[in-house]
Parts: sequence; C-alpha cells; structure tokens
Amino acid sequence: MTEPSAVPADPTNTDAAELTVDDLTVRFEGLAAISGVSLTVERHEVFGLIGPNGAGKTTLVNCLTGFQAPTGGRVLVGRESTVGWSPMQFREMGVARTFQAGRLFKDMSVLENVEVTAVGLGLGRRRAVERGRAILDWVGLAGKTSLRAGALAYTDQRRLAIARAMVLPPAFVLLDEPAAGMSDAECEGLMVLVSSIPRTFVCGVLLIEHNMRVVMGVSHRVHVLDGGKTLAEGTPAEIQRDQAVLAAYLGVEG
Ligand SMILES: Nc1ncnc2c1ncn2[C@@H]1O[C@H](COP(=O)(O)OP(=O)(O)O)[C@@H](O)[C@H]1O
Ligand SMILES: [Mg+2]
Repeated sequence: MTEPSAVPADPTNTDAAELTVDDLTVRFEGLAAISGVSLTVERHEVFGLIGPNGAGKTTLVNCLTGFQAPTGGRVLVGRESTVGWSPMQFREMGVARTFQAGRLFKDMSVLENVEVTAVGLGLGRRRAVERGRAILDWVGLAGKTSLRAGALAYTDQRRLAIARAMVLPPAFVLLDEPAAGMSDAECEGLMVLVSSIPRTFVCGVLLIEHNMRVVMGVSHRVHVLDGGKTLAEGTPAEIQRDQAVLAAYLGVEG
C-alpha cells in the first residue's frame, strides 16, 4: 500500500516535543483506575498503549485531554503544567483526540463535520472548507464529502473521526481504539494512515488498540497497563517476549 498524500501542516500553537504523564493517579470513589503511571509520548513517534478492558487506558487519555482531572501526579505538554486546563485548552495547545464511541455530528455531511471542527478552532469558513477537503482526501474520504456522516460505513466513520482530530494539525493525537470493528484489509489501510502521521504532520500519536497486529505493526514503543498500573514498556519486539505481559495479557488474548 502506498503512503497517503502529504497534507501541508499548519503551525500548531505549541513547540512541545513531548507529552508527559508523571506519577498519575486517578481514583473513582475509592477505586484506583490509574495508580502511579508515568509515560512520555514523543512528537516523532507512534506510542502504543495496550492493556485488558478496564486497565485504565481511556481514563489516561481523558487525563491527557482535560476530560478527567487527575487525583494525583502531573500531565505536561512540553514543560507546561496543564492543571485546570479544559478540553478546549488542551486542543488549542495541540493535543487532539478521537473517542472510542464516535461522537460525530451524524446529521451533518462529512465535509461539514470537519468544517465545524476547524471553525471551532478559529479558522475562517473558506480556510475551514479548504483544510477540510485536504484532510478528507488524506483519510480517503474525498469521494464521500457530501454524504451524511451517520450514513457512512462504520470504518469510514472512524476515518472521519481521525480527520476531525487532524483538521488543524495537532502536536499530539490520541486515538482510542481506531481499528475496533475493522476487517483485516481495513486495518491495513488504517496502519498506513497512522504510521504516516508523525512524518506528515510532525505529530506524535498515542494509539490505544486491541488489535495486536495493528499496535505492534505501527508503534515505535508500547506501554502496557494492567489494573491501572504499568506492567511493561518497550519496543514491540521487547513487549511481545515480556513474560509478565504474556502471562497477564497477550496469553489471554491469544
Ligand atoms: N467515570 C467513571 N466513574 C467510575 N469508574 C470509572 C469511570 N471511568 C472509568 N471507570 C473505571 O475505571 C477503570 C478503568 O476504565 P477505563 O479507563 O475505561 O479502562 P480501559 O479504557 O482500559 O478499558 C474501570 O474499572 C472502569 O470501570
Ligand atoms: Mg477504553
């Protein structure tokens, strides 16, 4: 499969080279969803985050995007503390995300979905449409811009969600299970797209993914959570032969 066409990157609001979680803890009424997790996503890499259901992956992404306040520890964009930042502030400072469950404007067209996102981030109408078309071309939805978003096939909805996150190129993008429900062939296409993000946009990727072929195939490094704690971190090759990981996670998944 070929590399997706390059989309010219607009400058982001941050020159942050890394996104950091330092000794993060999140408690929900006594239950520790995250306990003392530290990790750093570099701007030039795809960083995989894996772990069984309930491991705390989405909670971590929520902390990295202002949707969840940490109980303890720090989240840093570059060297900047993010205490009290709203989701919009995170986005304006270059941290974008997709959601596990879509959150598209289903009754708007595909193009309108990216356009309103770009306008919300400060672009004028014309620039927003221009930018929207370029990013839809990049995700492979150029032929579907006027369709109603709700009418798209499931995998195209996931591509649209990525387009919305990337329409104003962020410094970091957090993708929560983008391959869920995709066929092998669709996963291949997604892998090409995700792999190209750091080079095309100078944007680091945090990839949460259950599909091991996808996450091991595109990640430079992989971090494993289990029960809210770090189990291991390393290259895909290291993680795939880590005994603790095999016992706790990969073994169960087959
Ligand atoms: N808003 C919430 N209130 C209470 N418990 C929550 C909330 N969000 C997540 N949890 C709990 O925190 C743990 C981690 O959940 P989550 O981050 O969604 O895991 P993952 O994304 O790895 O499947 C789970 O036990 C989950 O039930
Ligand atoms: Mg989750």
